[in-house]
Amino acid sequence: MNKFSPVKAAFAVVMLLVSMLCAYKASAQTKADEAKMNAFVSNLMGKMTLDEKIGQLNLVVMGNAVTGTVISKGVEDKMKRGAIGGIFGLYGTANVKKMQDLAVNGSRLHIPLIFGLDVIHGHRTIFPIPLGVSATWDLGLIQQSATIAAKEATAEGLNWVFSPMVDIARDARWGRISEGSGEDPWYGSQVAKAMVKGYQGKSLTDADAVMACVKHFALYGGAEAGREYNTVDMSLIKMYQDYLPPYKAAIDAGAGSFMSSFNTINGMPATVNKWLLTDLLRKQWGFKGFVVSDYTSLNEVTNHGLGDLQTVSALALKAGLDMDMVGEGFLSTLKKSLKEGKVIQQEIDLACRRVLEAKYKLGLFKNPGKSLNAEKEKLDVFTDDTRKFARQIAEHSFVLLKNQEQTLPLKKSGTIALVGPLADNHSEMLGTWVIAGDPNKSVSVAEGIKNVVGDNVKVLYAKGSNITDDSLLSIRAFALTAPEAKDKRSPQEMIDEAVETAKKADVIVAVVGEAANMSGESSSRADIDIPASQKDLLKALAKTGKPLVIVLFNGRPLTLTWEDKHASAILDAWAPGTEAGNAIADVLFGNYNPAGKITATFPRSVGQIPIYYNHKNTGRPFDGKGGAKFKSDYLDISNDPLYPFGYGLSYTTFSYGGVQLDKTNLEGNTTLKATVTVTNTGKYAGEEVVQLYISDPVASISRSVKELKGFQKINLQPGESKVVSFNITTADLKFYNDKLIYDWEPGQFIVQIGTNSGNTQSASVQWLK
Ligand code: NOJ
Repeated sequence: MNKFSPVKAAFAVVMLLVSMLCAYKASAQTKADEAKMNAFVSNLMGKMTLDEKIGQLNLVVMGNAVTGTVISKGVEDKMKRGAIGGIFGLYGTANVKKMQDLAVNGSRLHIPLIFGLDVIHGHRTIFPIPLGVSATWDLGLIQQSATIAAKEATAEGLNWVFSPMVDIARDARWGRISEGSGEDPWYGSQVAKAMVKGYQGKSLTDADAVMACVKHFALYGGAEAGREYNTVDMSLIKMYQDYLPPYKAAIDAGAGSFMSSFNTINGMPATVNKWLLTDLLRKQWGFKGFVVSDYTSLNEVTNHGLGDLQTVSALALKAGLDMDMVGEGFLSTLKKSLKEGKVIQQEIDLACRRVLEAKYKLGLFKNPGKSLNAEKEKLDVFTDDTRKFARQIAEHSFVLLKNQEQTLPLKKSGTIALVGPLADNHSEMLGTWVIAGDPNKSVSVAEGIKNVVGDNVKVLYAKGSNITDDSLLSIRAFALTAPEAKDKRSPQEMIDEAVETAKKADVIVAVVGEAANMSGESSSRADIDIPASQKDLLKALAKTGKPLVIVLFNGRPLTLTWEDKHASAILDAWAPGTEAGNAIADVLFGNYNPAGKITATFPRSVGQIPIYYNHKNTGRPFDGKGGAKFKSDYLDISNDPLYPFGYGLSYTTFSYGGVQLDKTNLEGNTTLKATVTVTNTGKYAGEEVVQLYISDPVASISRSVKELKGFQKINLQPGESKVVSFNITTADLKFYNDKLIYDWEPGQFIVQIGTNSGNTQSASVQWLK
């Protein structure tokens, strides 16, 4: 027992008082700032005409970024009339300055514009796709990636980014799974917070800070059959428990804006969904920023069957939408709707106020050109430091899926056969959603190997196959980029050459997988195998009997059952970004020991989808023993995924001791300490992501079999052990019950700690209220 110490107690009281005073001062300051902002905006709005107010609700697209089919017209003219609130798609100080000057000097009230862009995983320096970034399980790195992206984006005149995408996805067919953080609501929430903090920095008025736009609100990742833009329909409990937490977390981190999603929720398109945009977002969650539609998603409400553009625009305004992206439904109909009594002045005013407030918070009224600095543009963009960071985060994002007989790391000597259509390639290194990144500046795998091992390793190269020979897939996957430069030889000739090359080498490194735009927006796939041309290549290579290392490019979990059986090693590199080749070579040759873990389950077959670790037990759970009838299973395939959530190997091995709990019977709001000893039992120093899951086996509703509640990334030298502890509180036990009340229920809980969701040690507690 600790003895009572009056000195310590007095110190604690003083500290408490100091922190209360600080909190009081901060909240008084916030109130004063808000009052100042309100007065400023009210004063400005007092001078605005109806047209000018409606103009603020209009977001137009300009520039080279093609992210939709409709393009805004007559922008300069509209700007002079005050009919534009913001522009997206344009970047570079000269371009942005021209338009900002037009708005500030050429319009009646000199209102500055907000400039947005899809900055998704880096701006000029490209980091791994978000699904890869999430596999780092390193929130510091994740936040820093957003900070750097913000610095580069502001250096090019931007002040608003359409990121983070926090949509939970349990269906790998959905191409946009590449842009999120996977399937878990708790982990997704941590990433959402880190990204928002990284983008927005200490203060939105800072020259390096951009306003985050959290998307896609809401539930976009729940699209039926994984088909892009498809209907979403789910129970409220599933929504609250599994899909909504990351959006809420982003608000808690201070996110300044939200984007509505394309889908319906409970029959009502998100863009006109009052329950979503007002009751939940603002009234329940207290969001104070503004909401923009997705690209023409307002106009598309007509296709959803809710009426003509005037009708749906009125619905959207009333629902709580503030800004209309590209479609000009607000611009072209709200005045008429006001006259006809379909909307009221206060509704237009409210939306206008929220847009102006965003500009105020960004400091644009005081300094419309705050980040328009040609010097900064030269200094802050694509520097040695940003590239160094890109290499680091890429290395940390890679996941070692298989490593039979320690095939990896490779020796820094001998001969390797480097094969595959992605091995000597620049265009596919950056992944999907790259607006300002230059593929020509990316490092190919062939170059990376040369950079890292020089002439110590002899590299024999053969392309082996095209990325795809499927003409339909080719057209769709390269719709936004130059078409794949197809090899003139027949597939068999290419394979023969690769096999002959492989025979001369000690080991084969096959760099294969998806092209950058086989995932991302409008890139759902029904078959999530490695494209057939490459699979044929792999099959021929495997027959040589040489060790076969697959370096995999993928924007989603792929079905890798064949690869898992026949390859010696598989390193999942996602789409690694600018420093792809250097980072891959670092890991292949052991300069960095991979420690990434997947954040979305890899199925064995598309037939298992949706597949996710935090599923329900069902009334007839299958116990894994074959032959049983009347169980929740398949006749032809196991229920288990190929690789479970949280899975990823290392060049070293880790062993876990049993879970120790400091108590096994608890009552009320107390803390349970769970510890486990992790030992590096292999030959290499390495990092391990120690994961904490909790199960609630008896409750008032059927709960998930387990839920992630914490993790720690630790570093261990060979032979070293570390005691890892987690403090568990009743907050970790809470869930939404059938009345949607978020609370915990007394009873048994099973604490599980381990290396992935499918491999944990457990201990049980009784926790009473
Ligand atoms: C549509 C996408 O759904 C969204 O994520 C993106 O930000 C906008 N287009 C703008 O490009």
